[in-house]
Amino acid sequence: MQHHTVIAIDGPAASGKSSVSKALASRLGYLYVNTGAMYRAVTWLALRLGVDVGDAAAVEHLMQQAAFECVKRDGSSSFLVNGEDPADALVSPEVNAAVSQIATLQEVRRRLVSLQRDCALNQPLVMEGRDIGTVVFPETPYKFYVDASAEVRAARRAGQGLEDSVNQRDAMDKTRKESPLLIASDAQRIDTSHMSLNEVVDEIFSRLQAAGIRPPSA
Ligand code: DC
Repeated sequence: MQHHTVIAIDGPAASGKSSVSKALASRLGYLYVNTGAMYRAVTWLALRLGVDVGDAAAVEHLMQQAAFECVKRDGSSSFLVNGEDPADALVSPEVNAAVSQIATLQEVRRRLVSLQRDCALNQPLVMEGRDIGTVVFPETPYKFYVDASAEVRAARRAGQGLEDSVNQRDAMDKTRKESPLLIASDAQRIDTSHMSLNEVVDEIFSRLQAAGIRPPSA
């Protein structure tokens, strides 16, 4: 199916891809879509309803019962679960601890990938995640893999005051059977360990300009 331009930003936990993707989308005038928030929202719902996140059949049942919707708010997309935005609860220690397990489940991925593809039917976007360049939009020519050393990533999370077992999540995300975190063969890898947010955004923006991408007003 024909879709608008998609800039795919993949990378491990706490690599800075959310801040980079948000700033890039704002500079380009594209919609920002955080797919990690979708896996987190499903996790939040399961925990709230007392569904065992390790029980694939129970989570599958939950997916069938729940209504999911992406809505546009101020240039970003929010993900509603049964009409509710989980907001700050998405980054709770409980969700952090369980989300990588939820993300291993085939039915969860199938449903969320379909919603993610729908996002690009109406507007161009910057989409961040783990499998955007490999699975969700493998045909997009604009793929970046944003990385940073393990030490820098742990420090960035600590600096945000968030409790998050980044290394454990990365290990699960990289070794799972369904759509593991991989660097797409045609992705441009950027090591942000020693770069500021603005430097990373400038770097990606200039590479996109060189590839012919222009903000709508330019
Ligand atoms: O980007 P994040 O840290 O908020 O993502 C939370 C988890 O969701 C991450 O540990 C793995 C999963 N995830 C995924 O499997 N595929 C994506 N496209 C995005 C996130």
